[in-house]
Amino acid sequence: MQTIGVLTSGGDSPGMNSAIRAVVRTCAHYDKKCIGVVRGFSGLIENNTKLLSTRSVRGIINRGGTFLYSARCKEFMTKEGRKKAYKNLKNSGIDGLIIIGGDGSFTGAMMLEKEFSFPVVGIPGTIDNDLHGTSHTLGYDTALNTVMEAIDKIRDTAISHHRLFLVEVMGADAGFIALNSGLAIGAQEILIPEANMSFEKLINSLKKSKKSGKTSSIIVVAEGDKTGKNVFDLASKIEETLSRYETRVSVLGHIQRGGSPSCFDRVLGTQLGVRAVESLIDGNYGKMVGINNGKITLTELSKAIKGKTKINKDLLRISQIMNT
Ligand code: F6P
Repeated sequence: MQTIGVLTSGGDSPGMNSAIRAVVRTCAHYDKKCIGVVRGFSGLIENNTKLLSTRSVRGIINRGGTFLYSARCKEFMTKEGRKKAYKNLKNSGIDGLIIIGGDGSFTGAMMLEKEFSFPVVGIPGTIDNDLHGTSHTLGYDTALNTVMEAIDKIRDTAISHHRLFLVEVMGADAGFIALNSGLAIGAQEILIPEANMSFEKLINSLKKSKKSGKTSSIIVVAEGDKTGKNVFDLASKIEETLSRYETRVSVLGHIQRGGSPSCFDRVLGTQLGVRAVESLIDGNYGKMVGINNGKITLTELSKAIKGKTKINKDLLRISQIMNT
């Protein structure tokens, strides 16, 4: 293992840069060459790479986004695309590849490993926190803080105008962001795909809160929740049922993916970057590096993608107690 490649793929997340920086500097530490692949798997297919030196990653630890750029590459999902990528990997002299991304990116990494016996190691980079084998993915902590700060601001308007706000947060398939940010901002209800709250229960909760003297409320809705067809449809249905509440919707969208990474994400990115390089050097392939109870661990990529980490339903229970 003389030359290690690194790429970021899928949705960008704060902390990806600290992981890239750590990969590059750990390679230098062990006297290995490090090659950055630009724009994820697309860069592999187009042979868009650059040699990375320790100095080329200076000043990026505090930056959001990804210094290597990212893409969701459809061509890599075809056998032809992967053949091109493998050929370019070989021609560039890359012996092993570190993939920083989420489940889609890890699926691509596994195909590369399976079809060409190419050594890969994954670093979990997604704000959604929806990978098994790590308590935190890179960017999740920063996103939680971004959401919390944004909803704190929305609350000012909710209180001033006696309104009900439905705030949609990211998480196409998972409610981690909604659940934890919802608890942190004191949401009246938190709607997540893992819990399936009924519309009736939601209405009863709002009625009860009104009765208890609440004049405004915030409901945090995960993108993937199905209580309504979508968050706008849900808001209309609530207004039709409870005319006493003036309702507004706020979709936080991609501001959740940007911004300077939190201290936690910078430290995590650094730890995972170092361990990912060491794993490749040790011949420990096909794994995702993660963090569990403060320890850096390795999980099979297949388990990281498929093994569902259960949402902490006790947080939902606690949130209900807080609403009394
Ligand atoms: O990064 C994950 C995620 O934020 C999902 O929660 C969301 O559905 C998706 O990315 C949207 O990504 P894009 O706009 O890049 O397609």
